[in-house]
Amino acid sequence: MYIAMNRFKVQNGSEQDFENVWKGRDSTLHEMKGFREFHLLRGPANDADGYTLYASHTVWASYDDFSAWTKSENFRAAHKNAGQNKVLYLGHPQFEGFSVVEGA
Ligand code: HEM
Repeated sequence: MYIAMNRFKVQNGSEQDFENVWKGRDSTLHEMKGFREFHLLRGPANDADGYTLYASHTVWASYDDFSAWTKSENFRAAHKNAGQNKVLYLGHPQFEGFSVVEGA
């Protein structure tokens, strides 16, 4: 299994707008081979630095299935409006990918 996460530092005050972008999106992830799960995660607020941490979290059967999605028309379509939402978060999102070593 492979877990792909993208972390966003969402500006204080933009949390609801950011969540609405994800709630309102038109997702076809479930059509992809090897796709298992998606969650949008809200982490702790960092008031000193003015943001709340969020992560998009996907679980895939394998790294190859994840990689194929990133090269697909499905990925391009999912991100066609992403640039318009940059005002909501600080800097660039940070990608982290994990191979599952052990689990239940
Ligand atoms: C390999 C890198 C990336 C991964 C793994 C990733 C992951 C995801 C996933 C799983 C979704 C939901 C797609 C769906 O339901 O169909 C999504 C949507 C989204 N991604 Fe990414 N993403 C990546 C790169 C980026 C970058 C570079 C940005 C910012 C420029 C970004 C911003 C967004 C936004 C704002 C959405 C919400 C969809 C919308 O705007 O309608 N992503 N991403």
